Amino acid sequence: MTTIAPLTTVAEVRALRPSLGRVVLVPTMGCLHEGHLALVRQAKTLADTVVVSIFVNRLQFGPNEDFERYPRTLPRDLELLAAEGVRHAFAPSETEMYPEPQTYTVAPPPEHTDILEGAVRPGHFRGVATVVTKLFGIVQPEVALFGKKDYQQLMVLRNLVRQLALPVTIVAGETMRAPDGLALSSRNTYLSEAERAEAPRLYRVLTRIAQAVRAGATDHARLETEAMAELAAHGWQPDYVTVRRRADLQPPAPGEQELVVLGAARLGSTRLIDNLEI
Ligand code: PAF
Repeated sequence: MTTIAPLTTVAEVRALRPSLGRVVLVPTMGCLHEGHLALVRQAKTLADTVVVSIFVNRLQFGPNEDFERYPRTLPRDLELLAAEGVRHAFAPSETEMYPEPQTYTVAPPPEHTDILEGAVRPGHFRGVATVVTKLFGIVQPEVALFGKKDYQQLMVLRNLVRQLALPVTIVAGETMRAPDGLALSSRNTYLSEAERAEAPRLYRVLTRIAQAVRAGATDHARLETEAMAELAAHGWQPDYVTVRRRADLQPPAPGEQELVVLGAARLGSTRLIDNLEI
């Protein structure tokens, strides 16, 4: 199987960058799946050169999260990228990315980080914002592509780029799903066979809420409570199921359009998130 040799140092990227033309960056933590590859295919339509970064970013994991366990499959990832015609992957070591303690960080505001994922994962978005800003500084892409599956991450990064006037256009990629609706995620590899069979329930409850709201339902609290109860009844530990405004993920005012329903729940030892725009 053909593969590519990754760039591993900041110096290598800097030396190559002038020859790359307009660059679109697809930041990833590796363990690439069809969802990432769909982003790569979309990326190819957006600029001259696609650069995929592969880096499991310790800064965005809490002390009790799955940093050590997170799947690392670099040789396979590089083969998958080669098969997609990608020639440039940036896969730095931890000491290359963080040669000294990262004491300068990028802190999104509490109204964006203390809700939903941020409420359950304190410090997560500071870690994401910091590494993405650093990747932008290293790769200097004109465009960067992020999946809608991490909807709050996308919202935070759009605001980051706008408020700091970073010269990068953020483009969103649609969530890729298995035939039964489960959103593709590297963390799906943690699921046992029984959990994998149960996992699409999260998509189903979100779909039901999206359909109800589209059909005119306004009692979001009732829909959310019912969804959480259904998940709990089937062995999940739900963190939230909630209808929010797309732009800032705050609760919508009555009659507001442009909504999204988001859910996060733990199934066994695996935490799954998903969302659907309404
Ligand atoms: O979405 C991810 O995989 C990560 O949060 C990202 C954007 C690569 C930053 O580490």
